[in-house]
Amino acid sequence: MNIPQHIAIIMDGNGRWAKQQNKPRSYGHFVGTDNVRNIALKADELGVKVLTLYAFSTENWKRPKEEIDYLMSLPAVFFDKFLKELMEKNIKIEVIGDLSVLPVKTIKVLNQAIKKTKHNSGMILVFALNYGGRNDIVEAVNEIIKKGNITAITEQDITNNISTKNYPDVDLMIRTSLDYRISNFLLWQLSYAELIFIDCYWPAFNGEKFVEAIEEYSNRQRRFGGLL
Ligand code: IPE
Ligand code: IPE
Ligand code: MG
Repeated sequence: MNIPQHIAIIMDGNGRWAKQQNKPRSYGHFVGTDNVRNIALKADELGVKVLTLYAFSTENWKRPKEEIDYLMSLPAVFFDKFLKELMEKNIKIEVIGDLSVLPVKTIKVLNQAIKKTKHNSGMILVFALNYGGRNDIVEAVNEIIKKGNITAITEQDITNNISTKNYPDVDLMIRTSLDYRISNFLLWQLSYAELIFIDCYWPAFNGEKFVEAIEEYSNRQRRFGGLL
């Protein structure tokens, strides 16, 4: 099996999954959060270098305040439960997106996890939080402008200044729940990723289904515009 270096996942369907179980949406988010651990450990075991998970988009602020508040409390729940295990696996936590407007407590919990795992040399687990692909490109351009005296920029300039500058390009993007869209995820970085849409809500996605997706990826021919 050809293991992608960088996998990005749109963890979608928590609400629909909860509805199916006659539970509130928050329960879906809670179980979905536990599932982050399962998929991260599986990715690590398979030898994935970077796993980027879409946790909250710049558009998710449109949701009811109670749901947003609950989502913002989940990083604390996640790291309380699993940071120790992630440390043992030598996994490094990083974040992309604009953290500055998140609740202070959420920022603190994230920064603690980032700091604690900073020297880990294993898989990088990236949470995309208050992340938007368009904003990411705009911020990259702003970074370039800040460096001064610019009349034209190159693709390489954007790649070097975007949030994922330290990671390889995304090889495989998985979206659960069968909505066939990118929803403002890594627009720049997905340009040649293989896309797989899975008929399963995020809380029910598991290691076995993850391996199946990677098998499907392995069987694809990546031509990058050329010929084989
Ligand atoms: C994904 O599940 C989690 C976030 C977007 C934060 P949803 O909450 O979008 O669940 P559905 O798509 O409504 O089922
Ligand atoms: C994308 O899911 C964002 C995350 C999974 C964090 P959404 O549920 O917000 O996307 P749309 O609204 O279906 O496009
Ligand atoms: Mg959704």
